[in-house]
Amino acid sequence: MIEKKFGYGIIGCGTISKWHAEAAAATGKYDLIAVTDVRKESAERFAEQFHCMAVDSTEELLKRDDIEIISICTPSGFHATDAIKVANAGKHIIIEKPMAITYEQIDDILKACKDHNVKMQVISQMRFKENVLKAKEAIDSGKLGKLVIGDVSMKYFRSQEYYDAGGWRGTWKLDGGGALMNQGIHGIDTLQYLMGPVKSVFAHAKTLARNIEVEDTAVAVVEFANGAIGTITGTTSVYPGIPRKFEIYGTKGSITLVEDTITLWDIEGETEKIKEGDQERKLDSASNPTNFGIEGHIMQLDDMAEALIHNRDPKVNQYEGKKPIE
Ligand SMILES: NC(=O)c1ccc[n+]([C@@H]2O[C@H](COP(=O)([O-])OP(=O)(O)OC[C@H]3O[C@@H](n4cnc5c(N)ncnc54)[C@H](O)[C@@H]3O)[C@@H](O)[C@H]2O)c1
Repeated sequence: MIEKKFGYGIIGCGTISKWHAEAAAATGKYDLIAVTDVRKESAERFAEQFHCMAVDSTEELLKRDDIEIISICTPSGFHATDAIKVANAGKHIIIEKPMAITYEQIDDILKACKDHNVKMQVISQMRFKENVLKAKEAIDSGKLGKLVIGDVSMKYFRSQEYYDAGGWRGTWKLDGGGALMNQGIHGIDTLQYLMGPVKSVFAHAKTLARNIEVEDTAVAVVEFANGAIGTITGTTSVYPGIPRKFEIYGTKGSITLVEDTITLWDIEGETEKIKEGDQERKLDSASNPTNFGIEGHIMQLDDMAEALIHNRDPKVNQYEGKKPIE
């Protein structure tokens, strides 16, 4: 049986758009028809590489009847405007993180998706990693006992050149925040995914080492709804950049992950244990923003196609996408 292929388009042909085009191709469920970018030459180069059309504007892309799903890969501050346009055109949306950068923008997106009955998948690829899911299952099943502490540490390195390159990075208007809103959002989303809803946050944020408007360093103390407490540490200013680490501690067990590698798994009564120090270092984006794999994007784009085929919500719908920004 030939599976249905969804007509597909991309807005914004910069760094991350390649992950979308390649992931879409890998699922076998998308037919990339056309792309657009405010920089015409970027769209043309991309179209040549991925054998599709380059069109002159988002409006032109939205007019096409042969496109059903659109990935939004523009700077974060444009996500809301773009998402609302795409929803108004009745097309389903795959949107890069963060879904938007203010509460007002998020509310406008939720309304547009509802009014036009379109689905949205917010990219949050960590949630699709096998070991993150394994940890979540153990936590949700109560194996760790009462949860006591949940920490995430993201001590990254991004150079001044990195910030200067896009023009939009490090600005309030288009990045919406720094070490936490941009680089840290995956870690924050994963922490709240594992630990459950957040009750309160107290934070210190500073711009210590980069010439940018937003924070390059922040530490937050979090209280979760289940009573556990924890910390979120994020920076983009430390050399050489240390892989992200999650630490979940309960009265009956502890799990730590460095990126998606389990570095500690010790649960009362279980004979299988993993001890810290036994693991090889895998791909991580601690000091290189593009040093991460495509598997997460493949799973998310596949999940979006399956959601449309079976008329269900994608796993990280707009309501899930809102959580790490809150
Ligand atoms: N999931 C991840 O791990 C991940 C990784 C990197 C970036 N991102 C997210 O992807 C988004 C884009 O980041 P990037 O690193 O690819 O940025 P980038 O600057 O490399 O690319 C953005 C592209 O959008 C184009 N553009 C800007 N405004 C536009 C508009 N109004 N209409 C059409 N095109 C427009 C630019 O010309 C550029 O080609 C950001 O929201 C970022 O947070 C996610």
